Amino acid sequence: MAVSIKVAPQEEIEVPYFNPRSGPYLGRLMNTNKKEKLYIPLKVGEANHIFMLGRTGYGKTSTMKALAEAIWIYYHEVLHKEVMIIIFERKYDYSKYQRLKQFWQRRVQEMGIAEARKRHPFLAQYFEIQEKHPQLKHMLGFPGDFAMGLPNYILMDTYISKKPYPVDIFTWHGLKPRSYPTRRIVFRPTRNIYAIKLDNGPDTEVVEGKIHLKDISFEMLAKKFDIPQGTAYGRILRKYWKVYKIHDPDEILRLVQAQEPIRESTLESLRSILDEIKADPLYLKGKLTKTGQEHKPFTEYLTTDKINVIDFSDNSDLDLEEQRLIVYLLWKKLKVIAGKKRVDIWIFFDEIQDLTGTAGEASRHNLAWLAMEELYRKGRSLSVNVVAGTQYLYKLPMSLIMGATHIAVIGALASPKDLDILRVAIMDGDKLNIPIEHDSFEEFVKRKKKKGRGWFSFDREFTVKMYFRPNQSF
Ligand SMILES: Nc1ncnc2c1ncn2[C@@H]1O[C@H](COP(=O)(O)OP(=O)(O)OP(=O)(O)O)[C@@H](O)[C@H]1O
Ligand SMILES: [Mg+2]
Repeated sequence: MAVSIKVAPQEEIEVPYFNPRSGPYLGRLMNTNKKEKLYIPLKVGEANHIFMLGRTGYGKTSTMKALAEAIWIYYHEVLHKEVMIIIFERKYDYSKYQRLKQFWQRRVQEMGIAEARKRHPFLAQYFEIQEKHPQLKHMLGFPGDFAMGLPNYILMDTYISKKPYPVDIFTWHGLKPRSYPTRRIVFRPTRNIYAIKLDNGPDTEVVEGKIHLKDISFEMLAKKFDIPQGTAYGRILRKYWKVYKIHDPDEILRLVQAQEPIRESTLESLRSILDEIKADPLYLKGKLTKTGQEHKPFTEYLTTDKINVIDFSDNSDLDLEEQRLIVYLLWKKLKVIAGKKRVDIWIFFDEIQDLTGTAGEASRHNLAWLAMEELYRKGRSLSVNVVAGTQYLYKLPMSLIMGATHIAVIGALASPKDLDILRVAIMDGDKLNIPIEHDSFEEFVKRKKKKGRGWFSFDREFTVKMYFRPNQSF
């Protein structure tokens, strides 16, 4: 449903044509004395797609996370309305874990173990479990890029100013570290689900997502299980799967045995493939498990009570085609949810190029691209909003940027070609003076200062330089 405008209790500032006090908190203006607060001007009955660009390491993922938090808070605490937030996560982050460990050890040193335990009970529990259970240790230490079930303690040690008194980055934005209720959906999990939960914070629920076999095309199945085209069992399976549309392995075997004159060796090959399909934990077969438990496709787990993280990191053993299918199935489901329930939906794609591929791959056969294209076009009428982030723009289909309502640049650009594109895509683009950075040591050293800073172009018309909202969750 469209968003009605309510006023957030902050001071007003002078920025053209929208009320900056309404909407999720975006951050603070740069280059002014007051460093006024800025808000995303959510529009009624229109899509609010945001495209985020930036060279690696400047805080693209962090800023996306911060936006998801700001949107969650705005809907819950200002609009008092439910919202569905879905985040596609690309990777987990071992260095983040190491920094968390350093933070914890420093705390213990500074204030003693008792006080440190009292202040950060989760961290105490987390690191103590690892010491007590060395057998778990090899499985832990991989919090996702969006480990939102854990407060982001480590940024508490980042200061905006030290004199006359110390002001940390959260205080400066009027925020505190906090966790958000998160439901993480993993597919073909590669490690113990409990370890995944531990790594992503106590406010995390982990569920195993499955796909109905009827949603798997025969072509996809043949590729996944190396079913050769010309073989007898391949032809039989194709017929049942594609023509008769029977997708239950047991049912197929039963029908084949009853109806087909078939050689024993062919039957054996068929049975062995069907057994493999049955054993694959990604697929949903039948309605109930043997113990009477209900099987659910992953789309049934989407909720407005928590932030949904679709785990495409190495926690899930998926190939690209399967990931693209999941994006597509999710979009199919969202069309129903958005239409029926009239709930606003926000979808976050970090590293979108990994999913949609480059401009050359933009075709109907690429399911992620197909979904994305529809999301961009139909989002408007369904109140589905897309926040997409990437490092390079010039290799991607242009519609991604031309369909965006707002464009953000975090830190610096990775390519001069992207500055050219931006200058065309943004109305005041000729005035843009965004640095382009290459891999040099000098730039690496300077990078620290530019983290979490950048440009935001409202409606691709009016661009400001700003400090982005930091992420409260890990
Ligand atoms: N506002 C900020 N102030 C200080 N440090 C920050 C800020 N925002 C992010 N960081 C730190 O910068 C590092 C990189 O952030 P992040 O992973 O979000 O960047 P990224 O652009 O997504 O990088 P990548 O391309 O590697 O995914 C993180 O360690 C994060 O804690
Ligand atoms: Mg990132």
